[in-house]
Amino acid sequence: MKLLFTISLALFGLANYFLPEPEFSYKIYGNMANFFESKNDLLDFFEFNKGETVAEVGTGDGKNLLGLSLLTDSIKFYAQDINTKTLNQNHFDKLKAKIKKYKDPLTNTFELVTGEEKRSLLPDNSCDKIILSATFHEFTYMNEMMADLYKKLKPGGKLYVLESVCFSKTHKNYSAEDAIQIIQAHGFNLLKKDGKDINGAKGLYRLVFVKK
Ligand SMILES: C[S@@+](CC[C@H](N)C(=O)[O-])C[C@H]1O[C@@H](n2cnc3c(N)ncnc32)[C@H](O)[C@@H]1O
Repeated sequence: MKLLFTISLALFGLANYFLPEPEFSYKIYGNMANFFESKNDLLDFFEFNKGETVAEVGTGDGKNLLGLSLLTDSIKFYAQDINTKTLNQNHFDKLKAKIKKYKDPLTNTFELVTGEEKRSLLPDNSCDKIILSATFHEFTYMNEMMADLYKKLKPGGKLYVLESVCFSKTHKNYSAEDAIQIIQAHGFNLLKKDGKDINGAKGLYRLVFVKK
């Protein structure tokens, strides 16, 4: 049995060895890649661990999470959004099939969750990490969403916020200081603030908070 397991692992590694290594850009890794200079920059920032449960709230079509799945293993991902035109199983499965060109099998699992404007509808106390990639500024009901996300994190869970100036007239921009003030008012402690204008972005910042 142990031998069989070792052989399977070796074959899995060997199979992926022959798959092409994609260039690190938003085309394969999704918009989240625009916040990072390299794969290592991204991995250092998120500090993913096998066995974690990670949600991207406001994931769009879920492409970011498929991109992360090229770089991580054995993570349960919740792909969450309020818009079922962009986030739906049919489209997600097509994106997943495309990404398998670069890694097959994917060892992460994915559950799609359709939320509401004021509530994520993620299970309470379920997430080690929640990511908001270009989504914080989109919340119409900021206080409700922040209180909701706090409940969805496990004790000691982390919230990651990636933002840059959004030029759409209908959207509100928050400076890093504004975002920190709002998020801390909901029971989070700031762990890290960094980021610089790369990939054509303006006012790019990256924040990491921990649930108190
Ligand atoms: C600018 S897009 C960012 C998509 C993706 N995260 C990315 O990095 O490209 C913002 C997303 O937030 C979603 N959104 C807006 N309000 C939301 C809410 N209250 N809960 C969950 N998602 C929300 C929108 O539907 C949209 O898909």
